[in-house]
Amino acid sequence: MNQKGGVGKTTVTTNLGAAIARRGYRVLLVDLDPQGHLTYACQLPENEQPATLAAALLGTYAGPVAELIAPWRERVDVMCTNVDMFLLERQLYQSRGMEMKLSRLLEKVTALGQYDVVLIDCPPSLGVLTDNALIAAGAALIPVQSEDSTLRALKLLLDQVRSIEDELRVAIELLGMVVNLYDKRKGRVVTSTLKALADMQLPILAVVDDRASIREAWRVGQPVIEYEPESPSAIAFHSLAGVLTGENEPLLAQVIDLDKAQRKAIPA
Ligand SMILES: Nc1ncnc2c1ncn2[C@@H]1O[C@H](COP(=O)(O)OP(=O)(O)OP(=O)(O)O)[C@@H](O)[C@H]1O
Ligand SMILES: [Mg+2]
Repeated sequence: MNQKGGVGKTTVTTNLGAAIARRGYRVLLVDLDPQGHLTYACQLPENEQPATLAAALLGTYAGPVAELIAPWRERVDVMCTNVDMFLLERQLYQSRGMEMKLSRLLEKVTALGQYDVVLIDCPPSLGVLTDNALIAAGAALIPVQSEDSTLRALKLLLDQVRSIEDELRVAIELLGMVVNLYDKRKGRVVTSTLKALADMQLPILAVVDDRASIREAWRVGQPVIEYEPESPSAIAFHSLAGVLTGENEPLLAQVIDLDKAQRKAIPA
């Protein structure tokens, strides 16, 4: 999650999902963003009536949840979206337990017994959809860019997480940040912000450089670990997957020799 647009939420969801699957876990990606970028990035068709994610969340579709899910890569499936999601937010405000809808839906997914890991791609807002994702997941991973506005945006985000915890009496684990689109050639603002981020309470779990291979992989509907398996981007996602599955040590916040640290984390 991150209410800032374009920081890499969708990129992290698809690429991390693929890297976790490579470790043998069965992964479901959920496209909770009405923009549908995850669905498009995976080159999958939108949901069709009546089996849409919007209808399932509203409760007007009560059929098999498997109808909402399409296969993408080996061990990675996607719960796709469609344009009805744009209207959903307003409709949810009129329904009871509006923050719990995704939790209820994912209970049905759990009952299928087909997945070990679920990653939810949030829209760029702190609205009811993101609240649903937080509550369903009970944990948040935060892609950020290393730039001046990030620290303020992070403060808003952390306040929102705390207010949900207070109001709904749930616990949300903040897993950490993924610094994305990192380009140290852009100078001191970028490198000094990375230092400021490293000093925050939230751990930095990976640093993903700004690389053409990520955009190219997106364009052909592939995760970067397939598109360019040896690239630094692929290595960064393998490393992140290892940290989140508990198989690698978290990177030191000081990120002294990042490339070396991430390289050690490639699965056999
Ligand atoms: N590390 C990277 N290197 C190069 N390009 C990247 C990288 N990460 C993301 N991009 C590109 O930047 C754009 C924005 O990324 P993405 O869509 O993942 O962000 P987002 O936070 O999901 O955006 P939104 O807030 O609109 O949902 C995409 O075109 C993506 O291909
Ligand atoms: Mg997105």
